[in-house]
Amino acid sequence: MQTGHELFLYEMSDMLDAERQLVEALRQLEADATLPQLKHAFAEHGRQTEGHVERLEQCFERLGVQPSAAQCAGIRGLVQEKSEFMDENPESDILDVFEIGAGIKTETYEICAYESLISMSEEMNHTPVTRLLKANLKEEIAALKKLQGFSKKIKPSRMREEEEEESEGAGLEETAASSGAGRRRRGAAARAGSRTSRRRAA
Ligand SMILES: [Fe+2]
Ligand SMILES: [Fe+2]
Repeated sequence: MQTGHELFLYEMSDMLDAERQLVEALRQLEADATLPQLKHAFAEHGRQTEGHVERLEQCFERLGVQPSAAQCAGIRGLVQEKSEFMDENPESDILDVFEIGAGIKTETYEICAYESLISMSEEMNHTPVTRLLKANLKEEIAALKKLQGFSKKIKPSRMREEEEEESEGAGLEETAASSGAGRRRRGAAARAGSRTSRRRAA
């Protein structure tokens, strides 16, 4: 690769693959979410994401080139994180909170990618392409704000309980606080605390 234009096309192909992966990922987030407002938000952004794929395809049409087979490893990694988290058998309230965080990471990633594409597009005076990219960016920013709003309001239902259990456990071990044994025991107490919590939930 030698030119800025080649870099621009490569990055835009990468983003097209990212958006295609996200159409499927958002369907999964919607299916797994339990809070109705969260399900609705993922469904709505899923529809917008189908539009993001279409706008990127229009960008390539405007430029008269085919997208390359670039694959977005960044988004694949975020999708992989979610599937590995599911192996932890999360309670539904915990899964909702995880999904909000995963959504925030994803939107932040997309926003950075679009800002970079827009800056290159403006530099090369691809005005109609810039307009399409900005339309996608606007929806990503709105989706991020919505998820950040959820993040302030929606917390795991037993978060305080867990904190109290852990501070009780730490109090018992103050005498061994600076030793390695103390650190190991505090870790064990925290693990026991979380086991207690899971048993209560069962
Ligand atoms: Fe998107
Ligand atoms: Fe998005």
